[in-house]
Amino acid sequence: MSLIEVRNVTKIFGADPKAMLTKVKAGMGKDELLAETGHTLGLHDVSLSIEKGEIFVIMGLSGSGKSTLIRHFNRLIDPTDGAIVIDGTDIMTLPTRDLEQFRRQKLSMVFQRFGLLPHRTVLDNVAYGLELRGIARAQRHETAMEWIDAVGLSGYENQYPSQLSGGMQQRVGLARALASNAEILLMDEAFSALDPLIRSQMQDQLIELQARLHKTIVFITHDLDEALRIGDRIAILKDGVLCQVGTPPEILLQPADDYVRAFVRDVNRARALSVDVVMQPPALRLTTENLDHALEEMRRVGESYGYVVERDRYRGVVTQEAIEDAIKAPGNDSLYDIAVETPHFGPETVIEHVLPATLESDWPVPVVGPDGSLAGVVSRSDMGQILGRDEEEAEPDDDAGDGKDEPARRQVGRDVAGAA
Ligand SMILES: Nc1ncnc2c1ncn2[C@@H]1O[C@H](COP(=O)(O)OP(=O)(O)O)[C@@H](O)[C@H]1O
Ligand SMILES: [Mg+2]
Repeated sequence: MSLIEVRNVTKIFGADPKAMLTKVKAGMGKDELLAETGHTLGLHDVSLSIEKGEIFVIMGLSGSGKSTLIRHFNRLIDPTDGAIVIDGTDIMTLPTRDLEQFRRQKLSMVFQRFGLLPHRTVLDNVAYGLELRGIARAQRHETAMEWIDAVGLSGYENQYPSQLSGGMQQRVGLARALASNAEILLMDEAFSALDPLIRSQMQDQLIELQARLHKTIVFITHDLDEALRIGDRIAILKDGVLCQVGTPPEILLQPADDYVRAFVRDVNRARALSVDVVMQPPALRLTTENLDHALEEMRRVGESYGYVVERDRYRGVVTQEAIEDAIKAPGNDSLYDIAVETPHFGPETVIEHVLPATLESDWPVPVVGPDGSLAGVVSRSDMGQILGRDEEEAEPDDDAGDGKDEPARRQVGRDVAGAA
């Protein structure tokens, strides 16, 4: 079971929300509902699951229902219909006396406007939640200092919020949320008020922290680039309706509808996607040390080069010519010795960084995992295809095409590759 399950949640704001349910269930949209009844449709039949340990981004324009959705998680809002189940508990069934404890233990919130207490120092702001829980001063200060350190604010602990820049204040907000040790971090437009450069640094810091902490983070943003950068998965809301949930590559390459398609159209894919999305299995993986066997294998597969792998570790590329020369030459009897180490990249490298190498290389460029294994290879045509795929066309991605528009697509791919 997922950590957070949102099951068919509908939220209607207004005088008599329940009475509006039939209209909404019959398909009445947000604008119509407002015009006809004066009620606002916050969310319409939203279902999604958030897994433990992921960064789940909720994205949508202003008014699309993002805040409404996460306010359900700590029950600041009750659904008009549907259920929210967190860690197996339907939170609507929680008695009021348990609700406070549930919120404290399970969830902590980072706000867009930082929400710091102006008359308290950084240290006391970070320690505030611990203080409310009755933790002794020395202990809470020690814990708070650890988190101040983790967000890179050591030395500022005795400053007041007004003495800090916006980015630093948001670090305090983040440290305070982390100090609570809650399982789920809710971040509602937490970086939206920051300048672009600071914002980008905060994104990096969040990604770094998450690599160590493995929290479950629900992150709201109206910014697609931010969503693609930090999200393990992204949910896209429009007028209270969930359009799509997917990984960044899924959202970019398989937009579920016209709305998402329009949203992702201008994204620079070379920057937003990593090579593991485009890589393919190598045409020939040579696992033998024996030159004759390698040559045989190469002829059988019909390739003039291969990728040499020694006990699951990538060793380099070898050409047919090099093998033939080695067989003729005396004393050279291991394939491992003639494999040439050419440029290779990690699976997480963004396509933009790998593109020049694929253009210069005579064979697809190896992608090597952190354990040294050959994860796959990327060719220039793989690159061209993914970068050049034309989203303006209305057909789904898996449409093999009717032939008519196929040359146009390839042309775009070639242009992109050529320009790099
Ligand atoms: N307490 C409320 N009363 C009435 N309407 C509300 C309330 N909260 C939110 N809404 C409406 O619900 C919709 C979704 O709002 P919100 O969740 O704040 O959007 P977002 O966070 O995506 O900008 C908006 O149309 C908003 O006006
Ligand atoms: Mg909001």
